[in-house]
Amino acid sequence: MHSYKRLLVLLSPYKNALFLGAFCLVIASLTNLAVPLYIKKLVDVVMVEKNMALMNNLTLSIAGLFLIQLIFSTAHNYLFDLTEKRAITDFRIKLFKHLHTLSLSFFVKRRTGEIVSRMTNDITTIENIVTDLPATLLQQSIRLFGGIIIITYMNWKLTGLILVLAPVLVVFARTFGRRLKKLSTEIQDKLAVSTTILEENISCIQVVKSFVREHLENQRFGDALEDSYQSAKKRVIISSFFGPSIGFIAFSTSLILLWYGGREVILGAISPGELIAFILYATIIAGPMGSFARLYARVQEGMGASKRVFEILDMEGEVRDTSDAKPIPELSGKVEFDNVRFHYREDQEIIKGIHFTVEPGQTVALVGPSGAGKSTLVQLLHRFYDPISGEIRVDGIPLKTVQLASYWKQIGIVPQETILFGGTILQNIEYAKPGVLKEELIVAAKAANAHNFIMECPDGYETVVGEKGIRLSAGQRQRIAIARAILKNPHILILDEATSALDNESELLIQDALERLMQGRTSFIIAHRLSTIHTADRIIVLDKGMLVESGTHNQLMQKKGLYHKLYTLKSLQMVEETENIVN
Ligand SMILES: Nc1ncnc2c1ncn2[C@@H]1O[C@H](COP(=O)(O)OP(=O)(O)O)[C@@H](O)[C@H]1O
Ligand SMILES: [Mg+2]
Repeated sequence: MHSYKRLLVLLSPYKNALFLGAFCLVIASLTNLAVPLYIKKLVDVVMVEKNMALMNNLTLSIAGLFLIQLIFSTAHNYLFDLTEKRAITDFRIKLFKHLHTLSLSFFVKRRTGEIVSRMTNDITTIENIVTDLPATLLQQSIRLFGGIIIITYMNWKLTGLILVLAPVLVVFARTFGRRLKKLSTEIQDKLAVSTTILEENISCIQVVKSFVREHLENQRFGDALEDSYQSAKKRVIISSFFGPSIGFIAFSTSLILLWYGGREVILGAISPGELIAFILYATIIAGPMGSFARLYARVQEGMGASKRVFEILDMEGEVRDTSDAKPIPELSGKVEFDNVRFHYREDQEIIKGIHFTVEPGQTVALVGPSGAGKSTLVQLLHRFYDPISGEIRVDGIPLKTVQLASYWKQIGIVPQETILFGGTILQNIEYAKPGVLKEELIVAAKAANAHNFIMECPDGYETVVGEKGIRLSAGQRQRIAIARAILKNPHILILDEATSALDNESELLIQDALERLMQGRTSFIIAHRLSTIHTADRIIVLDKGMLVESGTHNQLMQKKGLYHKLYTLKSLQMVEETENIVN
């Protein structure tokens, strides 16, 4: 219930609309309750009094009641549904905004699918109960209790009979309804398995063909479908008798009511009109009983969903501005790591006390075996994470005391692989500096060696990339990322294996662009091909989270330590690679 209260807070800005809606709902429900009373009178007038004028009046009154019901139900539906849509739209926007306050750690710990599902499916589930719950409760309570009060007043014996019979119908419908719903979900899930197989087969069609595995795949798909057929069969068995049985029980119940009521009429205890009214009230009362049960199931679902959504909303970014954080002034780019320690999980220290200083404008190469902690180190420098202990300072200012946004404006990162947003090439480059003059953007693209290939695209800079547009090669995407970084013009630059996913030709083009990009900035490069590291001012060698060596290429080669070993190993590898290309 606690999370439901929080959901109600979402509705609070729209209190007035909701109160008006609730008012209309009450009027419509009361009108609905009044109709059988008029019908009772009508029947008695026709059958007992045989009064034509009164009959006409009563018919008109009933028509009037229907009209009132029409108007107020419409108003209530409109007000409630619209408020619900508005509140949920606000909520979705709020959640999306909140996502951006969360730290990188939140995103790397979870699968994309899970986050997306919370943002979409769970909210849709919430949407289904947020205003429905109070509306249904109100409406059905009026019908149930109002109905019972009226008929008890008319004849308590018949009322007792209705109160015994109606739940039988409801329990029967609920029991089988639930079973049917469970089977439907089961069928959906099993069909989803076959859909996955279908998708896999389409995307891996080359593999299937080349390994001549059609037979196996047919078998897999067939098994999955057979499985869902078995569930479907169970569902058919239940559903074929379910509908008719409900009908049978409903008619039998009415028949019992009619028989008993008929006796009362013959004995003169009630009028024929009263009997008709009773039967009408019986259906009015049975309605809420069924819908309370359904509502309960939906509320359970909705509560589960809102718990998951509020869990995200209650999270705070681990890396965030402290209350006294200050904007960082324009940087010259001095970087100090002071005994920095870091772990992702308590039991596994990844950075084990690292200490170094880099002067403004220097190029630093980070070298080390894979898993040594190179990427982690630069992510700490970018302040995607905060160190567990120790301090990172830029221009002597501890990173923890600065406003994130002011720092992030001055640091740039080109990752190993670039994923572009849907949209045009221009929009993707402009992301670094919205509203930039096209001339400036082209200068950046030229410096990134991207201009030529962009001009060859069908619509030049306006070419749409991604799913609905052209597919760019990894090298082309990297060059767009570099153009973006050039446009951002950061004082500190990080290149995390920016060229390692590329073939030799693209690498040459990118290497050239990168060298231009690094000029005049403090740069950290993690490169997988060591030839690119020769020219660095300083090489820092990491191993198992520790700084094991540092110096220039020549110094480290003389030392004959880890760098020497890695270098000779990689050089040999490169000779082989070159030979392969030549051959
Ligand atoms: N998000 C993460 N959560 C937990 N462990 C991680 C995460 N990212 C990296 N690691 C671990 O940290 C260690 C260093 O990783 P990384 O910094 O990527 O190394 P490198 O870039 O030198 O190859 C590895 O053992 C890796 O498994
Ligand atoms: Mg790495």
